[in-house]
Amino acid sequence: MLSRICFSLVLLAVGLSGFQILQVKRAVSQQEQIVTGTEFGDPLPAITAKDFELFRLGLEDFTEVENPDEGLGPVFNGRSCAECHSVPRIGGSSTITEVRGGIRKDDGSFEEYAGGSVMQMFSIPPHETQITIPPEINVIARRKSLALFGNGLVEAVPDAVFMAMEDPDDHDADGISGRAHRVQDKASDRTRIGRFGWKAQQATLLAFGAEAYRDEMGITNDLFPAEACPGGDCEKINFFNPVPGLQDARDLTTGLRGIDNFENFMKLLGPPPRGPISEEVLEGEKLFHSAGCVACHIPSLVTGASPVKALNFKRFFPYSDFLLHDVGTADGIGQGDARPEEIRTPPLWGVRLRAPFLHDGRASTLQEAIELHASEALKSRGAYEKLSPEEQKAVVAFLRSL
Ligand code: HEC
Ligand code: HEC
Repeated sequence: MLSRICFSLVLLAVGLSGFQILQVKRAVSQQEQIVTGTEFGDPLPAITAKDFELFRLGLEDFTEVENPDEGLGPVFNGRSCAECHSVPRIGGSSTITEVRGGIRKDDGSFEEYAGGSVMQMFSIPPHETQITIPPEINVIARRKSLALFGNGLVEAVPDAVFMAMEDPDDHDADGISGRAHRVQDKASDRTRIGRFGWKAQQATLLAFGAEAYRDEMGITNDLFPAEACPGGDCEKINFFNPVPGLQDARDLTTGLRGIDNFENFMKLLGPPPRGPISEEVLEGEKLFHSAGCVACHIPSLVTGASPVKALNFKRFFPYSDFLLHDVGTADGIGQGDARPEEIRTPPLWGVRLRAPFLHDGRASTLQEAIELHASEALKSRGAYEKLSPEEQKAVVAFLRSL
């Protein structure tokens, strides 16, 4: 008994709380290992020297500011990945939102715009390719950048885990019908379960990074070899392109492409650390469970087998199921198999540093974000609203500890 108490105290000391400790005890009995947070921006704990070198090279490329003679543009949203992923450290999020657009047709169905839904804000001189939103676009949405901490763990979760959690037809009649987003993964050329992006539109960090390199920075690469042609005017884009063709070259000394570097950096980037855990936080955690928030914000997941030891069978605490839900807030953009009214449950780890909240930043406070939950989350929001003001404060204190 004493040793059990000591074990719990040790877990409390490394920054875990009530329900987490219960899960850790189960994990330990099943031989999984748990990963607690690192300092923001640090790599996963206990990686090999070789992986550390890959992480370092990745961080360098992720931070590098690109120029038009290296392929930047003709249209772009940023000059480096870190420009939009830097709060509170490189690899984080930012208050930057970008614009997506598409077409809602008369029959209510959605049509993706030719050239994709991302609308680039900038262009390189002579600025002949500057994007204006085409007149046929009648859905315009904003999306916040996302933090990348701990994403190697998210990537290492087997597809089957998400498929086991989904309940598209709400068979258990709890009013919640999460859907796993099946996507064609360009990294493996296979159908995989998407988990990255507000629409869970990508399954792997390699594919997400490669698409971002092309869509955010205008740098073509092996996975996305054609320039983005927003407005569908590819001819104009190509005419004003100082470096036509494939722009992401392989580095002759390291043998790595830019997209490999981004992948390595993101894969090895550690998860966010928990904040201080007070009595109020522990109370809030209980209420978070009893209000049913955990139906979507699942506290922990376990990775599958991975050649990277730091990712191999690890239990971690993202507070998300990474499934698509209709919670009444979505952006009206259909993307792949994700419907206009669906949005992926965002992980809540690190949420304390991500204001403003929700995909478009429409909520200034965590309370506001909770109060905007509707549709599938209506019951859970109702349970939250029935709490006393002190109890609601405790839920927010818990969120602020993640
Ligand atoms: C102009 C800002 C901007 C730049 C530059 C940018 N991103 Fe992002 N990033 C975003 C936004 C906005 C999202 C959310 C997009 C969405 O879901 O539609 C995002 C999402 C992501 C995600 C998904 C994270 C998750 O947890 O789901 C990854 C991975 C990512 N970016 C990697 C990169 C990489 C690698 C680069 C550089 C090649 C990059 N980004 C450059 C704004 C940016
Ligand atoms: C049916 C699934 C579901 C339930 C239940 C649910 N959420 Fe969410 N939650 C979501 C989705 C989906 C979003 C993203 C919505 C958006 O961005 O438009 C979200 C967003 C959030 C955010 C904002 C995160 C960010 O990065 O901006 C917070 C905070 C949050 N939820 C807390 C809660 C709390 C507290 C409860 C319980 C009272 C709860 N949620 C219940 C699915 C759910």
